[in-house]
Amino acid sequence: MPSFQDNTAEPARPQTPTNNLLQKVKSNGSTRKFDHNLQHSLPIPGDGAHPGSIEVPATRSSMAETDYLMHSLSLTDRRGSRNSFGASLPIPKSKRQSRLSSVANADGRPTRPGMPAIQPTRDILSSQIQDVKAKITAAAKDMAFAFDIDGVLVHGDRLIPEGQRALEILNGDNELGIKIPHIFLTNGSGKVETARCAQLSKILRNPVSTDQFIQSHTPMSALADYYETVLVVGGENYQCREVAKQYGFKDIVVPNDIYASMPTISPLREHFTAEQRATSTPRDFSKVKINAILVFSDSREYATDLQIIMDLLQSEDGVLGTRKKDPSVDQLPIYFSQGDLLCPTEHPTPRMSQGTFRIALEAIYKAITGHELERVVYGKPELATYKYADEVMTSWMDTIHGEEKLPKNIYMIGDNPASDITGGNMYGWNTCLVRTGVYQGEGNDDENPANFGVFPNVLEAVQTALRKELGQDFMFKWNDNINPVTGENSVSAIE
Ligand code: G3P
Ligand code: MG
Repeated sequence: MPSFQDNTAEPARPQTPTNNLLQKVKSNGSTRKFDHNLQHSLPIPGDGAHPGSIEVPATRSSMAETDYLMHSLSLTDRRGSRNSFGASLPIPKSKRQSRLSSVANADGRPTRPGMPAIQPTRDILSSQIQDVKAKITAAAKDMAFAFDIDGVLVHGDRLIPEGQRALEILNGDNELGIKIPHIFLTNGSGKVETARCAQLSKILRNPVSTDQFIQSHTPMSALADYYETVLVVGGENYQCREVAKQYGFKDIVVPNDIYASMPTISPLREHFTAEQRATSTPRDFSKVKINAILVFSDSREYATDLQIIMDLLQSEDGVLGTRKKDPSVDQLPIYFSQGDLLCPTEHPTPRMSQGTFRIALEAIYKAITGHELERVVYGKPELATYKYADEVMTSWMDTIHGEEKLPKNIYMIGDNPASDITGGNMYGWNTCLVRTGVYQGEGNDDENPANFGVFPNVLEAVQTALRKELGQDFMFKWNDNINPVTGENSVSAIE
C-alpha cells in the first residue's frame, strides 16, 4: 500500500515552507524563469514571502494520465517538475482563520463553538465527574474523530439518523459529560463556511462550528497570497465568488463575467438569464491577465466552463483571445478543490462529482493539445488536506478543552475508500468505512481497506472506537443524577 512516507519526510506534523523548490514570479510574470528542458514548468508564484502559508509537497501526480488512469488520481511520484506549481500545495499556516469564523453572540462576544448553551449545574457536575474519573477523561481528550459528511452524516440535505446520535454522544451525552474532540473533513464544496455550517447544524441537530470544519476548498484560501487575478469555477449561482472573496482573493473572475462580455465564447450555451446578466461583472477581457484557474465546486455549465478553461489554458499568459505557440510550456496553473468521482446524494445511486469534470477536461486538453494537463487536486486523500486537518484539530482542542495539542488516537469515518480511507490510512489514522454512502460492498474494500473496520453506520463506528479507547463499559448517556463523589447514580444510592 502506498504511504505518505514514500513521498514526504514527516507526514504527521506540518512542515516548514519548502521555498527552495520554488522560483520567484510576480503576478505580472515579469520575473518568471523557466527550465525549457521541462514541459509544464510554470512555477508557483512567490519568493518565499508567504508568511501565512505552508507549502506541503504534493503526494499525487500533478500530471494527468489520460492514457492509463481515467478512473482515479494516481499516487505516483510524477508530480511535474520541481519548479512547477504542481510540486506543492499551499495551506494556511494559521490554525484559526478569523475571517472564516462567525460563531459569536449577538453582542459580539465569542461563544463556545461546538458546545451547547451554558448549563452551569451540569458543567460543574461533569467537571467533578471528570476529576473523579481522571484516567478515562485523559483518554477522551487524547482521541478525536474526523467525520466525512456526505454518505456518513447526511445524504444531500437529508439526515442519516445515526449521525445525529453519534454527534450527541461526542457533544457531551456520555458518562463523563465531556466533549470528545471531532472535526468535519469533507470534500464537499460550493458555499462559504459559515453558511454551510449553519445549514449542517440544522440538519444534524448538533452545533457545527467553522472552527471545526474543513471543506474541500477551505485550505485553498492560502492561494490568495500567490495569485492576483483568478478564474473561479463551479457552484450554484455566485456562491463560489463569495467563497473566494472571503478567502481574500483580490481580483475574482467567474465564467458568467466572461460570458456576459463575449457571449460567442460559448456557442453551446442556451440560457443566460436576465438575473445572471445583471449580477455578472463584464469587462474587457483582452486587457485582463488571469493568473490561475480555481475549480472550487461542481460545474453547473459544463460546456461554457470547459470552453473558457480550454481557452485560458491555451492562451498567452492567461489573456483571453490570445493563443500561445507551444501549449506544452508555461501552462496556466489550474487547481481543483477535490477529486471524487462519485458523491452520494438523495438519489438512489451516487452521482458524478468534481472528478468527472476534471477527467473531461484532461481528455479534451490531451485531444486538442496533444499534451497531458498539469493540475493540482486538493481534498481528501491529498496530504495537504490532512496536514491542515491536524492544524484545525489542534486548535479545536484548545477551544473545547483549553489544551492546544493534537490528540493521539484519531479516527476517520468515511464512506469513500478512495478518498476518506486511503488518505486516513496513509496519514496513520484509524479508519472506519461505513456502508451508508459510496461503499456498498461486502466485507472490507479490497484496494483501500479500512484498518479499524467496516460498519453499518457512523453510530456503530463511533461507539466501537469509544469502547476501544475508553473501556468496553463506557456509557453513551449523561446522567443528571450522578453522585459527583462516587460516580454512582445518586438517586438509586439514596434509595
Ligand atoms: O464528492 C463530493 C463531496 O460532496 C463528498 O463529500 O463529505 O463525502 O467528503 P464528503
Ligand atoms: Mg462521503
